[in-house]
Order: sequence, then C-alpha cells, then structure tokens
Amino acid sequence: MGVCEQYKSAGQDQLFEHFESLEKNEQQTLLDNLEKVANRVSPEKLVSDCKKAIQLAEENSKAGSHIQPLPSSSYESIIDNPEAETRYFNKGVESLERSEVGVILLAGGQGTRLGSSAPKGCYDIGLPSGKSLFQIQAERIYRLQKLVGKNCKIPWYIMTSEPTRNATEQFFQENNYFGLNHGDITFFNQGTLPAFDLKGEKLLLGSPTSLVQSPDGNGGLYRAIKENNLVDDFNKRGIKHLYMYCVDNVLSLVADPTFIGYAIEHKFELATKAVRKRDAHESVGLIATKDKRPCVIEYSEISKELAEATDNQGLLKLRAANIVNHYYSVNLLERELDNWCDNMSYHIAKKKIPIYNNKTGEFEKPETPNGIKLEQFIFDVFPTIPMEKFGCLEVQRSKEFSPLKNGPGSANDNPETSRTAYLKLGTSWLRSAGAVIDDNILVEVSSATTYKGENLSQFKGYKFDKNNSYVE
Ligand code: UD1
Repeated sequence: MGVCEQYKSAGQDQLFEHFESLEKNEQQTLLDNLEKVANRVSPEKLVSDCKKAIQLAEENSKAGSHIQPLPSSSYESIIDNPEAETRYFNKGVESLERSEVGVILLAGGQGTRLGSSAPKGCYDIGLPSGKSLFQIQAERIYRLQKLVGKNCKIPWYIMTSEPTRNATEQFFQENNYFGLNHGDITFFNQGTLPAFDLKGEKLLLGSPTSLVQSPDGNGGLYRAIKENNLVDDFNKRGIKHLYMYCVDNVLSLVADPTFIGYAIEHKFELATKAVRKRDAHESVGLIATKDKRPCVIEYSEISKELAEATDNQGLLKLRAANIVNHYYSVNLLERELDNWCDNMSYHIAKKKIPIYNNKTGEFEKPETPNGIKLEQFIFDVFPTIPMEKFGCLEVQRSKEFSPLKNGPGSANDNPETSRTAYLKLGTSWLRSAGAVIDDNILVEVSSATTYKGENLSQFKGYKFDKNNSYVE
C-alpha cells in the first residue's frame, strides 16, 4: 500500500486536503515525512494506540481498591539504618571497582513547565559557582570514579530527543565534557510520535509538509536502547548493572553504590527509589502494587479518593513517591527489551499544540488545549517483573530528591528550592566534618570534591561566613 493509502485507510484523509495546492517538491516532502513516521509505527496502529490510551486514562481515573502499598518484602528504608546503608554501599563499590556499572540519564524532556527553551540540564539554578545541572552530575561521576579508585570507569549514556539533542551535545563539547573521558559518554535519541486532535481521531499537521511530532515520553527509553543497540555496548564494556535517573533532580546520587549494592544483595532485576510523599497532592507517581505486581500510579491519573486515602495510622495509604531512579540488571534488558518495546501502552496528555490548518492555510497557536500527545511512561514495565525480583529502597528526601519542574517564583519544585536543597546538604556535610558555619549561611560544596559528605576533613575548624561560601 502506498503511503497516502496507508493514512487514508486509517481515517486520515484530512492530511491531504491541501495536497493539490502544494508544489511538486512540497508534495514529495510531505509524503516522505509521512512515510518516515509510518515506518516506525503504522498509521492504523497509531490510531488504535491512541484510542486505547484514552480508554486507559478513563480506567485509571477510577479509584482502585485493588491498588495496595508494596509488601514489606519488596520495600526497605535506609533512613535511620546506617548499618544496611554501609553494607549495601560496600557491595556496590565492589561492583564499581570492576567497572560493571553504567549510568543512563533521561534528558529528552522539553521542560515546558520550567519555561526555558534550552535543555534542562544546561539550567543554572543560581548556585554561587553558576554550575549547570549537567556539570553537577558529571562531577558526581568524576568524584565517584576517584573514590572507588582501581581505574573504575562509569560510562554515561545520555538520552536526548530531537528537540534537546544538538544543544545538549554542544553544551558538553563547549565544556570539554566536564573533565570526563569523552569516549565514556554516549548520546542517543529517543523517538518521536505524532499528535492527535482532542478526540484522539485525527493526526495534526505542524506545517504544510509535516505532522506535529513530540518525544514519545520517558518510556521511549526502551525502544531507544533497542534501536541504538546499547545492550551490545553494555556487554562490550562488561556492564552488568544500570543506574537510571532524571536530569531534573539536582540531588540524584549518580551511580549510587548503595542502591546498586541493595539490588545486587537481593538479586533484584529491577529496583526503584522512593521518598515519603510530601502531601496528598504532590505531583509525583506512587509506587504500589496492582494485582500482586509492582506498578506506579501516576499523579496525572490517580483519583482524588485514592490520593487522599489514609491507613489505620492516619498516614497516606500510598506514600512511596516515585523519584524516577531505577536499577536494571543488563540480563533483564537482554531478556525483556523486545517484549517491552512491543507491548508498552501509551498515555495521553492534553496540550496546547501549535498547528498548521490546511483548510485555511493558517498557522494556529491555541490558548487552550487543542490536542493530545501520546507518551510512554518508563515505569509501565514494572508489572512485568515478579514481585520477588523487584525492590524499592526508601531514601531521605533532603539527601536525594529536589526536582526542578517549575519556573522561578513558582510555589515549589523550582530553581530556588533546588538551589536551597543542594546548598543545605553541602552545608550539613561541612558541619558534620567540623567546619564552623555562621547561622543563615549556606555553603556550596563542589560535587567534584565530595560524593556524599566524605573527603571534607580538611575543613575541620574552618570558618565560613557570607564572604566565604564556596568550597571547590
Ligand atoms: C516524573 C514521573 C513521576 C515522578 C516525577 C518525579 C514519569 C512518567 N513520571 O513525572 O512519577 O514522581 O517525575 O520528579 O516518569 N523525559 C524524557 N523524555 C520525554 C519526557 C521526559 O527523557 O519524552 C525525562 C525528562 O527529561 C526528565 C524525566 O523524564 O528527566 C521526568 O520527566 P517529566 O516529564 O518532568 O516527569 P514528571 O511529569 O515530573
């Protein structure tokens, strides 16, 4: 079937209403662009996936009593448990010494809520040093390699998308890869998907010759790993364990040995970290179980009743907040990647989508949502993991989670809260190391100097005040 027919038989005749008015070369460009999309997912499948996604959203929004917290066998807290934390840390370090750990960074999101057109990782949260999120994360890798020693290498796989790729790579080049070995950094792109009208029936044009397209959600990671043959690269480098995290969390302990050690000790194939949910309506997914399988209930899809439900201690019934920090064994990916790529569902997000109206020949910039973007969620693979192979580690929010979601001056999860969280943590480490710090002073401690508070004994008795608040 020709490309036109493929779209028309999937009910997409509207894409060709202006076809005759286009120049010959424009007609060809439109057909080529449509073909590229169809080669990834057939128009018929796209339309049916969108229908399924709308149904899924309706089902998910109904309160589900079959959704329960994780059983204690799959849940452990290291808060106030230094003995377990140290044991796991040492186990993780042993694996790092053998260079068995790789890091995957999700950096394909467009950061629309933050309101910056540059990739989120380039964002300067206003630290005294002016460091970007990418730099802080690169320094953590650098410092951890030093801490582990024995020529430990921690390869870094950075997932970008069409909108973030060039600017991200350029930023790394301009900053000389922040002192890391260029050969240990791999950029790879996630895919894109076309957008639909609000009814989920008609594909939208972004220009006379192309569809509106956007990144396929952070669950696009799996297809991106497959299409870029990354499992081969993991094997070539001897990587057995993967640490995955989000670019927007300034506190993420990149390649965290404790988390790796936790998964290794319990032989988990997939593990995730959680923090205690701040309040019933915090915009976080909740790690839970559904039909005895692990899952995440996303904040955009949970009912009010379930979000607010409490247990017999008066605490939120579902309170394990998802910070999108996962552990995967490479064996698991080898086994399940194809299955995940073929079977993951889509979710809908109603958005204001600038479009080309081929009836009027006008570009339109809507004020209210006019369409649906389809996204895959990275945690939708959790239910494929048997409970005994899945673990959730509770960690302290003030040490590991402060996301950058919203623009300056917003109520929470913004540059100010990220900056303060980072500075408070560094300041607390210095105080524990015996530094003398004026009240109301927050000191920035470079992530290239300390990974999680070690290596600061030289500041014992050292005085910090407002003119002296940065430690390189
Ligand atoms: C996400 C989680 C939510 C969690 C919260 C914590 C998902 C689906 N939801 O929500 O459960 O509690 O973070 O902060 O994971 N990204 C891509 N490609 C995309 C879209 C996003 O790489 O197409 C990346 C972003 O760059 C970012 C991460 O995924 O690093 C999270 O994306 P975002 O869309 O901000 O997630 P939230 O809606 O905040």
